[in-house]
Amino acid sequence: MSLVHLVLLAALLSLVTAASSSPGSRSILRDIGGGNADQKDKAVELNSTNFDSVLHDTPAKYAVVEFFAHWCPACRNYKPHYEKVARLFNGPDAIHPGTVLMTRVDCAMKTNTKLCDRFDVSHYPMLFWGPPTKFVSGSGEPKKTKSELLVIDDGRTAERLLNWINKQLGSSYGLDDQKFENEHVMSNITDYKQISQAVYDIEEATAVAFDIIIEHKAIKSSETSASFIRFIQLLAAHHPSRRCRKGTAEILVNYDDLCPSGKCSYEVSGGKDTLGNFPICGKDVPRGYYMFCRGSKNDTRGFSCGLWVLMHSLSVRIEDGESHFAFTALCDFVNNFFMCDECRLHFNDMCLSVKTPFKKARDFVLWVWSTHNKVNERLIKDEASLGTGDPKFPKMIWPPKELCPSCYLSSSQKNIEWDEDQVYKFLKNYYGPKLISLYKEKSVMGSKKETITATEDMTVATNALVVPIGAALAIAVASCAFGALACYWRTQQKNRKPRRSWN
Ligand SMILES: Cc1cc2nc3c(=O)[nH]c(=O)nc-3n(C[C@H](O)[C@H](O)[C@H](O)COP(=O)(O)OP(=O)(O)OC[C@H]3O[C@@H](n4cnc5c(N)ncnc54)[C@H](O)[C@@H]3O)c2cc1C
Ligand SMILES: *[C@@H]1O[C@H](CO)[C@@H](O)[C@H](O)[C@H]1NC(C)=O
Ligand SMILES: *[C@@H]1O[C@H](CO)[C@@H](O)[C@H](O)[C@H]1NC(C)=O
Ligand SMILES: *[C@@H]1O[C@H](CO)[C@@H](O)[C@H](O)[C@H]1NC(C)=O
Repeated sequence: MSLVHLVLLAALLSLVTAASSSPGSRSILRDIGGGNADQKDKAVELNSTNFDSVLHDTPAKYAVVEFFAHWCPACRNYKPHYEKVARLFNGPDAIHPGTVLMTRVDCAMKTNTKLCDRFDVSHYPMLFWGPPTKFVSGSGEPKKTKSELLVIDDGRTAERLLNWINKQLGSSYGLDDQKFENEHVMSNITDYKQISQAVYDIEEATAVAFDIIIEHKAIKSSETSASFIRFIQLLAAHHPSRRCRKGTAEILVNYDDLCPSGKCSYEVSGGKDTLGNFPICGKDVPRGYYMFCRGSKNDTRGFSCGLWVLMHSLSVRIEDGESHFAFTALCDFVNNFFMCDECRLHFNDMCLSVKTPFKKARDFVLWVWSTHNKVNERLIKDEASLGTGDPKFPKMIWPPKELCPSCYLSSSQKNIEWDEDQVYKFLKNYYGPKLISLYKEKSVMGSKKETITATEDMTVATNALVVPIGAALAIAVASCAFGALACYWRTQQKNRKPRRSWN
């Protein structure tokens, strides 16, 4: 065993150990409004233990925290009002998911005294509003942070609270909104910043893709098994979300036990170690909704949009030497596991039309982009004749001029002449740093916790030397054409089951 492998082994071991201590915020966030949805409160009750981690991990852009005391009669009477608003925003059944996280803290609990002191709670109920991270302790200078949180001074009824929130958001949500009615979706294509919400959708699509594989017991043969492994290798090294990199790396390391002799264990409940209950992107994913990819109707966008964004974001993260591997992994994945026959077949044709192996990451990035545009071009016609598109998100040749003026050399009605250097530059930035830019802000706040937080989730794989998996993969990427994780993993397979080979 070489030195690199020893270091890698150590890193992997610490990775596996770290995995067993799961922070509670995941399950709490996922649990919001789920399960027995009707009996459960929609607002999340927080306490001193989970306050910081839940607010840190939530994908919501804003949070409301209600400080109350369980003995306070006015608070008891207020609860139904607060819940009426919470049902709009919290959980998979939410009408407007992912916008505002509604929470409460019981200040009459001794253990929460310090927490309530931190916010100078002067009366019950007292409501605060702000970006979730601004509630987290140590999120900057106390004075400055406090001024970024607002006290909600007019929220005495559900109507008035929602009014207040609408003013902040510039929205016009109503208490009687039905899902996908009067929808505020992100349909401003010139708003460059919206892509940063897409990390959550990429996580969602990753977990959903995995669930579909489980549900269909789709790892059936040595071919599909090899294809699954290749894709998982790609994700372990380059997924933009750290928790997905971690989850997929664990699947790789444990593959032998999860799929002994190529027979995967698909049970979702019961025993612990099955492929079926592996939280590929952590415990709170899938959440049941999309943000960047949310359609204005219940049957448009979502998963397939998330899958495209995943593919683009992977393409801009690979190195030259990996480009053909990545291409093969992607093509085989779509061909074996994307259960939309038409999509699969079309895509496979485009894969087969690639005759010479990719040598440059740039070529691969541009291939995924132009392939996506070919699909768009076809769908522009289909959707016009069938009326199946999302009215707020018409298909277009992408990126539009508004997003990247310099990408266009010239364009007539029929023909666009691209400046491919500019397109490449644009894609690298858009699906690279822009995609994870929201989390930059979170990462400067310096959480001291050992647990994996959303912040670390978003750091870039190959420079994340502070975290075990990042280190493992940095070594991996540097030491083996595609990754020593894969090499290491294969060596392990060979050592344990000498006769089996995966190539
Ligand atoms: C591999 C694959 C094959 C598919 N094949 C078919 C098919 O044959 N028939 C069918 O009906 N549907 C197909 N789909 C689904 C379809 O492409 C869309 O995903 C779906 O209609 C949802 O569209 P959307 O408006 O969310 O945008 P999507 O096309 O899903 O795009 C998601 C986002 O990516 C960005 N984007 C758009 N174009 C590009 C580009 N060229 N490069 C980089 N970024 C871009 C935009 O921000 C867009 O909002 C396929 C999906 C996948 C993943
Ligand atoms: C906080 O809430 C969680 C989940 O409801 C619970 O497990 C934990 O014990 C609580 N902590 C305190 C200090 O009350
Ligand atoms: C879309 O986003 C851009 C950039 O943020 C902004 O300038 C513009 O006003 C927005 N348009 C609409 C209709 O909201
Ligand atoms: C979408 O909404 C329509 C009507 O609102 C409903 O009939 C249909 O079942 C919904 N589809 C899904 C996939 O939820």
